Amino acid sequence: MLKKVTKTNQDIKETTKIKAPIVDALKTAYENPTYQFHIPGHTKGKAIFKDFKKLTGEKVLNIDTTDEFDNLGTLHPATGPIKEAQELAAEAFGAKKTFFLLNGSTAGNLALAMSLTKKGQKIIVNRNCHRSILTGLIISGAEPLWVCPNRIEDWSVWGNVDAGQIEELLKTHEDVSMVWITNPTYEGVVSDIKSISLVCKKYGVPLIVDEAHGCLWNFNKHLPETALKLGADAVVHSLHKTGGSMSQSSMLHISKDSCLDCNAVEKALKLLHTTSPSLLLLASLDAARANLQSKSGQKLLDRAIANAKYLRTRLDAIPNLHQLKSDFGYKTDVTKVFIKIDGLSGKRLESILEIDFGIEVESASDIGVLILCNLGNKRSDFKYLADALESIASTNYQDIYYLENRKHMPMLEPKIMMSLREAFYAEKETISKLDAVGRISAEVVAECPPGISILLPGELITQEHMPYLNDYEFLEVVK
Ligand SMILES: Cc1ncc(COP(=O)(O)O)c(C=O)c1O
Repeated sequence: MLKKVTKTNQDIKETTKIKAPIVDALKTAYENPTYQFHIPGHTKGKAIFKDFKKLTGEKVLNIDTTDEFDNLGTLHPATGPIKEAQELAAEAFGAKKTFFLLNGSTAGNLALAMSLTKKGQKIIVNRNCHRSILTGLIISGAEPLWVCPNRIEDWSVWGNVDAGQIEELLKTHEDVSMVWITNPTYEGVVSDIKSISLVCKKYGVPLIVDEAHGCLWNFNKHLPETALKLGADAVVHSLHKTGGSMSQSSMLHISKDSCLDCNAVEKALKLLHTTSPSLLLLASLDAARANLQSKSGQKLLDRAIANAKYLRTRLDAIPNLHQLKSDFGYKTDVTKVFIKIDGLSGKRLESILEIDFGIEVESASDIGVLILCNLGNKRSDFKYLADALESIASTNYQDIYYLENRKHMPMLEPKIMMSLREAFYAEKETISKLDAVGRISAEVVAECPPGISILLPGELITQEHMPYLNDYEFLEVVK
């Protein structure tokens, strides 16, 4: 006989302290099991590969369900606890409307492009944008008008986007319908979004900010200001990257005074999203927001910032190690620590950290490695990391496999020969990379991380691209 468990007053008191409606609804569903004759067919983990069940534990399979069932509400249209959770998120982030995203910020960028841009429209986009924005533009047929941000040459990374560059483009192209900027960069370089938004307002064009890597900013005054407070119309946040939700779960916010068409965005999301949204992922978004608003979550964020400062101070004392810092003209997010050691490529440093010290960093480029100071890391983790880096910086690593000839961060100025969409849908052929110079790319070539494109459909393939294409034997080109 299935047991009915009723909520006690104590349960209610605890959950009302800081609301997390999807988490609560999932808990209630877990405690009040039904005879299940619906998807998912593993039926609360009863029909699943044993080793997998051992690995995950029973509970997680028990609550693996989708919307519509167990009074959990629906995602499209948002109803019940899901609707309430989205509203609470909007309130927490200071947005008019927040959409929970499955398939990450990628889904948010695709929905924004599909709903707000049209074939032939010109959209100002920073060249180092994530490939999801490009995919969105291929779908809609809008034309990117590239803005190449400043380059931080010593570090081989893209820097900030200048408001002046945006204004120049808006002055010379009267038909621009939107500005779409990524902020911060993967390595934590921050652009002056306030100035960019003022320029956009002056020219009457909406501003979208891909703040995938900045979802914590809203919750601590020692971090940069979120674009939602600086005049952006729409912002995407990968809560799963740094905000504490589960992989793949993100949010899309429409700002309070934006005139963007929320209904159109919602319709596009409905088309893009799975029709079986994972309640686990949705609950994790609800939980991440609640956690960031809670006292304990705020303590974790304070700790992450203090840890980042501790790490940076330790790294400053290592003579041949350098860290990317705020500089004249740009700021950085203190929790993203991009470092390099003289004489080692980033890829090589990454492999030494992993093989000799069991440390995994966020990513590595030809120059350096990116360390994220996360909510979940303890001070002892940073002590271990700083000790390891001290040791590496004072050791001769000649014996380690050499990884120096690869380039990973595309820093190229595009030579555009055809429109993005036209080239993507053109007749194509696959040719050896060795024969590709002088041909027009028909595909998006963008490795993750950081998902920034090496080549886009419609771009001329040049000798300059070759160091970035080590892992490619063949390329798809326009016939
Ligand atoms: C700037 C930027 N935007 C969007 C995305 C896509 O995010 P998600 O992985 O949440 O789909 C990424 C992913 O790395 C990114 O770096």
